[in-house]
Amino acid sequence: MVTITCIEDLKVLYRRRVPSMFYDYTESGSWTEQTFHTNQQALQDILFKQRVLVDLSTRKVEAKMLGQPVTMPVALAPVGLTGYQSADGEIKAARAAANFGVPYTLSTMSICSIETVAEQTQKPFWFQLYVMRDRNFVKTLIRRAKSAGCSALVLTVDLQILGQRHKDIKNGLSTPPKPTLKNLMNIATKPQWALEMLRTPHRNFGNIIGHVAGVDDTTSLSAWASQQFDPALSWDDVSWIKELWQGPLIIKGIMTQEDALLACRHGADAIIVSNHGGRQLDGAPATISVLPEIRATIGDQVELWLDGGIRSGQDVLRAIASGADATLIGRAYIYGLGALGGLGVRRALEVIQQELDLTMAFCGKTDIRSVTGSILYAPSSPNINHQPTMRGQPYA
Ligand SMILES: Cc1cc2nc3c(=O)[nH]c(=O)nc-3n(C[C@H](O)[C@H](O)[C@H](O)COP(=O)(O)O)c2cc1C
Repeated sequence: MVTITCIEDLKVLYRRRVPSMFYDYTESGSWTEQTFHTNQQALQDILFKQRVLVDLSTRKVEAKMLGQPVTMPVALAPVGLTGYQSADGEIKAARAAANFGVPYTLSTMSICSIETVAEQTQKPFWFQLYVMRDRNFVKTLIRRAKSAGCSALVLTVDLQILGQRHKDIKNGLSTPPKPTLKNLMNIATKPQWALEMLRTPHRNFGNIIGHVAGVDDTTSLSAWASQQFDPALSWDDVSWIKELWQGPLIIKGIMTQEDALLACRHGADAIIVSNHGGRQLDGAPATISVLPEIRATIGDQVELWLDGGIRSGQDVLRAIASGADATLIGRAYIYGLGALGGLGVRRALEVIQQELDLTMAFCGKTDIRSVTGSILYAPSSPNINHQPTMRGQPYA
């Protein structure tokens, strides 16, 4: 049995166990991948102040997201095609998150459907919505998410048009993936993955196939998906969706103060500062770089969360100290899922929780809710426009 002590260990194992086209799908950003890499680098550039001789005997990293208790301020971000990283991947990830006590978000582009995940899990999860041109399909999806008991809707607003990832084009990773000779040969080297995939009935886009008129197989799905993302999506649609959903609404994909204010005005209950993990606008700054100014602009109007580049508990703490109420992880849990299935997702969460707890303690804090920008050194980079943090305390 391999000893897993950090997220990087899971990534190494993940690469070994999952076909390379799916590894590449995860481990890539758009065009030059500048933003994909910057997300992580900018987090690591933030340094902590070590404090000593503080009583650290009792510590707490529990928090709340949308008023619900979570065992740490981390949720699993929506990730498309999760059921190709490991058979029934969405069910495994949702169960692992529920058992650990953090929220799970199911993507519109999941392999297991909303209904399947709801049947196979005990606790409510969040549903992430992509707004398609076919508004009847959108209406039905929202209704299905409601009937399945989803407790929040995550509306992704940064994918009206699709960023380009070179690796996916070269690997033939379209919707659905193409069975090229190269891909089939690679799959032959991943027998455990292949066997599990053969055993599950969930091998196609469960939220779509059979729910759209004329889309009953992979060929018709491909034609439908290629023209369904809606370039005309606007803030008016957000109001329409809010009205239809009538539950907690999370707006994901905000990178500027202006859009954050608009999101508040259009009824968001939480905002996710996100650049889609560097998969859309290449050349956008790291999410952590824009977080403080967004916090300064919106104050405490709504919950403010961040994703992008989080690979450790230290990164979660950096985000919280820079003004986030909570964070989401994407790739970090996908590595775990591909490496060890549901157990790997659990291990990813355990690693991050332990690192978060200890790093907070090294900074002289015993409760995540009391963490402020005072635990960080002022950033040295002239490119980072840091403002006072959310609790009004400038970097000391
Ligand atoms: C492989 C992959 C697939 C993704 N699919 C979706 C998706 O279906 N919907 C969505 O809103 N975001 C999607 N995202 C973006 C994530 O929700 C999240 O914003 C991003 O992964 C955060 O960055 P991180 O992976 O560095 O943690 C995807 C990200 C990755 C890596």
